[in-house]
Amino acid sequence: MTTPIVCLENVVKTYPGGVCALRGVNLEIHRGELLAVVGPSGSGKSTLLHMMGALDRPTSGRVLLAGHDVAALPDRRLSGLRASLIGFVFQRFHLAAGVPALDNVADGMLYAGVPLRERRERAAAALERVGLGGRVTHRPHELSGGEQQRVAVARAVARRPLVLYADEPTGNLDSVAGAEVLDVLRDLHADGTTIVIITHEQEVAAAAGRQVRVHDGHIVADVPGGGP
Ligand SMILES: Nc1ncnc2c1ncn2[C@@H]1O[C@H](COP(=O)(O)OP(=O)(O)OP(=O)(O)O)[C@@H](O)[C@H]1O
Ligand SMILES: [Mg+2]
Repeated sequence: MTTPIVCLENVVKTYPGGVCALRGVNLEIHRGELLAVVGPSGSGKSTLLHMMGALDRPTSGRVLLAGHDVAALPDRRLSGLRASLIGFVFQRFHLAAGVPALDNVADGMLYAGVPLRERRERAAAALERVGLGGRVTHRPHELSGGEQQRVAVARAVARRPLVLYADEPTGNLDSVAGAEVLDVLRDLHADGTTIVIITHEQEVAAAAGRQVRVHDGHIVADVPGGGP
């Protein structure tokens, strides 16, 4: 068995103020998976993604990224490990306003130490891959919502992370634009990217290879899906 990309061991997360969002969660993500996280609003899905991405520290329990206990890593090493392993896509696209698509994607590699010319080449290739080869000079306000989200996906994958985390990536999109974003994610998965997607959509969950159901801070089901 290979080392999981991410491993959560008995993770508890209590927010300041006292809400216990995760109540002892165990989860492993392996290379090549397409995993859907489902569950009602407030059940802890985004908190789970934050823990899996080491964006926030657990109250107790352990988070391992590629076998490294994140609690034992100095902040700089953790940032570096996170940057090389994980790409994030959020419901709100978080693109830099007024900045062309190409630079929005290229700037995502600034801290990975990629030289400017290669950043721009990789950004152009990533935009091509999400079907936006003809939109590289467009600024976010000159793009549709679905196109903006595809720029966000391009930015996340241009760094070539091992795993892509998407938190309701279609939540702000109409069904056509949402379907296009999902097609892009499915293509990336077919090409070998590990994908974890939080979704409210049953269809999306059904198409995943594995479904994790969260309820009230617990994983209440972890089952094979109908998809790849
Ligand atoms: N930063 C925070 N501070 C305090 N409480 C928080 C914080 N973030 C989330 N919570 C609480 O933790 C619980 C889980 O929140 P979380 O965002 O993980 O839910 P979710 O499953 O992603 O919901 P949704 O489907 O609505 O996005 C909720 O009760 C929420 O109010
Ligand atoms: Mg959420």
